[in-house]
Amino acid sequence: MEKICTQEEFDGKIKRVLISKEEIATAVQKAGKMISDSYDGKPILLVSILKGSFVFMADLCRAITVPCEIGFMSAKSYYSGTVSSGIVQINMDLDRDVSGYHVVIVEDIVDTGRTLNDVVKLLKARNPLSLRVVTLLDKPDRRVVDFTPDYSLFTIPDLFVIGYGLDYAELYRNLPYIAEASVE
Ligand code: IMP
Ligand code: MG
Repeated sequence: MEKICTQEEFDGKIKRVLISKEEIATAVQKAGKMISDSYDGKPILLVSILKGSFVFMADLCRAITVPCEIGFMSAKSYYSGTVSSGIVQINMDLDRDVSGYHVVIVEDIVDTGRTLNDVVKLLKARNPLSLRVVTLLDKPDRRVVDFTPDYSLFTIPDLFVIGYGLDYAELYRNLPYIAEASVE
């Protein structure tokens, strides 16, 4: 099926800038320093949960000054009603064993918390040296499972946001800022 989005339609859904690219850059530098300062010299593996965190990962890894490796994973959680099933479908898994690494999961947004709750359980079962979750955005008002990220760059209200990796219908990931979207 052909998917057409005119420039006018595209621009029309960008309601207002919520977090500017300068604000993002400042917060990313701070997060990079926090990660660089808090490990003991053992290998660090940054794990990006695709697709939403690819832009954040690209900037965050360049704000880290200590040796670190990069991994990618694509996961989707299944649930019924408000109960997380704990079943997480891995569409693409990491290409290495995480035991022997300090794992830092790099996520775009924690919304209901289901995805990360399940991904954390799955990766912990693989016995990393330690495991922490860094998220660009946190929407705590939307939480349905008890999940708290270790580090969140921005806490936002219950709005649908786009840009800097986050999509609406696979578009807007390329915006350099985070915007509130006009979606029904
Ligand atoms: P969860 O509900 O915490 O499991 O979040 C699942 C995924 O939903 C996130 O990783 C995002 O990809 C997506 N998501 C949640 N809220 C938003 C939003 O406001 N904009 C774009 N994607 C979102
Ligand atoms: Mg998404």
